[in-house]
Amino acid sequence: SGPLAILSALAEEQAGLLEQLQGAERTLHAGREFWQGQLDGLPVVLALSRIGKVAAATTAVALIERFGVGQIVFTGVAGGVGADVQVGDVVVGTGYVQHDLDASPLFPRYQIPLTGQTVLVADGSLVQALLAACDAGLHGLQHAGRVPVVHQGLIASGDRFVNGAEETRRIVQALRSHGHAPMAVEMEGAAVAQVCLDYGLPFAAVRTISDRADDTAHVDFPVFVRDVARVFAQRIMAALVRT
Ligand code: ADE
Repeated sequence: SGPLAILSALAEEQAGLLEQLQGAERTLHAGREFWQGQLDGLPVVLALSRIGKVAAATTAVALIERFGVGQIVFTGVAGGVGADVQVGDVVVGTGYVQHDLDASPLFPRYQIPLTGQTVLVADGSLVQALLAACDAGLHGLQHAGRVPVVHQGLIASGDRFVNGAEETRRIVQALRSHGHAPMAVEMEGAAVAQVCLDYGLPFAAVRTISDRADDTAHVDFPVFVRDVARVFAQRIMAALVRT
């Protein structure tokens, strides 16, 4: 199978990996930069997803069609919505749902039309590899005096930056009433998962919690991205390619 794609949401998260990329070769395609090379001898392609479901899907398709990647991992930040999911924690996504997808009454709410699927399940080996990479990579690290907890569970994606306790409550409540309990919200994961479903490729994502998707999310998010996100992404991904 082809190289491993490492899709990052933010340039800050990609920067550290780019510095370590051996034999780096840059290609401009679909208005995006793609970097082929090796990390610790492992063939990889690095790309930025941009923001939102469509942008992430476009990037994923390009990685598959143009660069022949064999699997995709996503690294980014997310808003924590699970009760015990705090800023500085990490969530490895075992499932992905689009919280803004609703083609009811034609299809059940949240179901991806014509696939019969609602929660897309992450690749089991990639999840295990990411959990191990979090353990190894984050060892000894603290954020705001707290050792990061590594969670695994459902990630909900949608084309909204969730910035309010009331909005979070609405999104979580609606998902819960359909049997889904999300740990984090972000804007790309479920879209990349859907592309990987169509192409039959393994996918998993790891998200560091930058905010609680509450009334101060827009303040917490940029600070976390600037000061912390790159450290987490670099450490986890460096550990991933080492295993
Ligand atoms: N990514 C990080 N924080 C987020 C939030 N609150 N909503 C959506 N995506 C996010």
